[in-house]
Amino acid sequence: MNAAKTFHVTTFGCQMNEHDSERMKGMLESLGYAEAPEQEGADLILFNTCSIREKADSRFIAYLQQAAAHKRRAPGTVIGVGGCWAQSVKHDVFRQFPYVDVAFGPGQVHKLAEFLTTDSLTAQGFFEFEGFTGHLPVKRARDFQGWVQISAGCNMKCSYCIVPATRGRQVDRPLDELVAEVRDMVENGVLEVTLLGQNVNAYGRAVRGGERSSFAALLHELDALDGLRRIRYTSPHPQDMKEDVVLAHAQLESVCPHMHLPLQTGSSRVLKAMRRTYDRARFLDRVALIREHNPDIALTTDIIVGFPGETEADFAETLEVCEEVGFDGAFTFIYSPRRDTEAAELVEDFVDHEIAVARMERLVEVIQRRAAERAQRFVGRTLDVLVEGSSRTDAARLRGRSGHGKVVNFSGLAEPGEIVPVQITAATSQTLAGEMSLLARALV
Ligand code: SAH
Ligand code: SF4
Ligand code: F3S
Repeated sequence: MNAAKTFHVTTFGCQMNEHDSERMKGMLESLGYAEAPEQEGADLILFNTCSIREKADSRFIAYLQQAAAHKRRAPGTVIGVGGCWAQSVKHDVFRQFPYVDVAFGPGQVHKLAEFLTTDSLTAQGFFEFEGFTGHLPVKRARDFQGWVQISAGCNMKCSYCIVPATRGRQVDRPLDELVAEVRDMVENGVLEVTLLGQNVNAYGRAVRGGERSSFAALLHELDALDGLRRIRYTSPHPQDMKEDVVLAHAQLESVCPHMHLPLQTGSSRVLKAMRRTYDRARFLDRVALIREHNPDIALTTDIIVGFPGETEADFAETLEVCEEVGFDGAFTFIYSPRRDTEAAELVEDFVDHEIAVARMERLVEVIQRRAAERAQRFVGRTLDVLVEGSSRTDAARLRGRSGHGKVVNFSGLAEPGEIVPVQITAATSQTLAGEMSLLARALV
């Protein structure tokens, strides 16, 4: 083994990919590779790709072309492409980009070492989900925060979405394995875990190698672990957001008062075309149940504008629901047709880009205004903040997150990984500002 070899990983896409990349880095280090600060000069240039929207594809291809240029100067460079884009184009990777040596899908991360150590490069692994990455070595970005993949794949059939094609059918990990993994993380200093899955609250029905379980049961078991201070998760599907999970938020101290509940659109007609399996009334009913038991919870969401056939009246319903719910934040996207998805066939109904952009602007105005209004409830309160580092805009201040998932910039003295009380003095739609409360700190 050559100890001097170096690698560089560029990650696109969601937290699932971030998590897989940490595993890739951990594996490579255990093979004797060292992480290089940049692509140029690395012996192995890896990409963990995303294909959720067209922009994700084009950004990645620009990066890949840079890697190709490095390889022309240093022909020994190995270029590897993993993740959802690779899975969605499969063997075409090598046809379109002949300088790629290794390609693999998201279910094959655990085989990276094997791909790299084979004699014949142009190794590839696709199609089947074969294994979780939970047992692989890991290189965490922060010692005190960790991701836990509780399931892979997705059994929903949202008509715009490429994920079921890239990540396959849902497979869940056994409950006891997850609890053991989190216990081990906590023993190694992790205070906050984020449970990852495409539809986390469907967890437990498709357990491979274990008994059936439920997402609420998992939350209860994890909450019982000493030393685990915060449990987050993403994303639940409104269809499966049942009372047991809602009550877990109210009852379990470590489950954070934040829920990311993707709405997608406020129009029941469009929800149907999206195959989201709930309508406007049912979504609002879920929100009412959540807030009945958790009045202070932060609710965030995902919204797509310009889905094929979306009319001005449909869009007005999205605005209405956003006004009514008052989300604490939202990720907003313009619909992007994806290969091999049902909605991509509806070419005659595509919404003009200018119209979609204009709708997006109106939506963002409502989201931000309501989020800013909602955030005022924190002013004057003291919130527990997990310190992540220094503030991005003012290095003399600290930055962290409250249980609600809000970024808090504050003055005080504390180390990353500490949970400290911060008195909130101001709030915008995106961030809170405050001062560390020394008196409250002396009391904790
Ligand atoms: N499984 C998660 C979402 C994964 S993708 C869930 O259902 O919550 C994250 C978000 O990307 C989705 O919620 C959706 O809002 C957006 N998205 C997915 N496909 C898209 C597409 N083709 N065009 C625009 N946005 C899309
Ligand atoms: Fe895609 Fe829908 Fe599954 Fe989310 S629930 S990953 S949007 S198919
Ligand atoms: Fe995630 Fe992108 Fe795949 S959002 S699941 S990396 S398509």
